[in-house]
Amino acid sequence: MRQGVDILALGPVVPVIVIDDLEQALPLARALLAADVKVLEVTLRTPVALDAIRLLAQELPDAVVGAGTVANAEQLQQVIDAGAQFAISPGITADLLRAGQQAPLPLIPGVGSVSELMQALEAGYSALKFFPAEAAGGIPMLKAMAGPFPQVKFCPTGGIGAHNYHDYLALTNVSCVGGSWIVPTAAVNANDWGAVTEVARQAVANAKR
Ligand code: 3PG
Repeated sequence: MRQGVDILALGPVVPVIVIDDLEQALPLARALLAADVKVLEVTLRTPVALDAIRLLAQELPDAVVGAGTVANAEQLQQVIDAGAQFAISPGITADLLRAGQQAPLPLIPGVGSVSELMQALEAGYSALKFFPAEAAGGIPMLKAMAGPFPQVKFCPTGGIGAHNYHDYLALTNVSCVGGSWIVPTAAVNANDWGAVTEVARQAVANAKR
């Protein structure tokens, strides 16, 4: 089983995906794969989210399909049953951290403060989402946490876009960044998969510079 840190190391940008229409799941995911974005975070924010995870996990062996917005142990079990390869939570609860320890996939818990980071570390998690990144202190906060907790690797998410993701990726404790900007709503609504690929391709290409 991959560890959370392995998932975060698979690529510089993790698209935060909201799927409203199940028919769009495959073309959308293929558009991202065409841009070499393999790690897909499908958020549990729509009624079809679990079906979308199940479909993508079955149909796209080259993708690493995970679930986002996993907020409790019950949802963690649901995404495991759907075939997710990782789970990301926006925050932590003792119950969720416990469930993640027993899970057959890596849970990447979300933290927004030093105390939450310490609770996650205590429970054995050192690959974390930093959420909501910009609102919770952004780059200065991540730099401050690198001193006492150099062993923690983050995927900051929330308020990150083309304008600032480089600055995040430059930090020693940031493995990748997450965001919805990689999957523009207008392009998805228009079924413009070429545009989705182009935005993702640019995000990946510019991350390397
Ligand atoms: C998330 O769930 O990770 C965030 O809603 C994504 O934040 P963004 O829309 O600001 O990228």
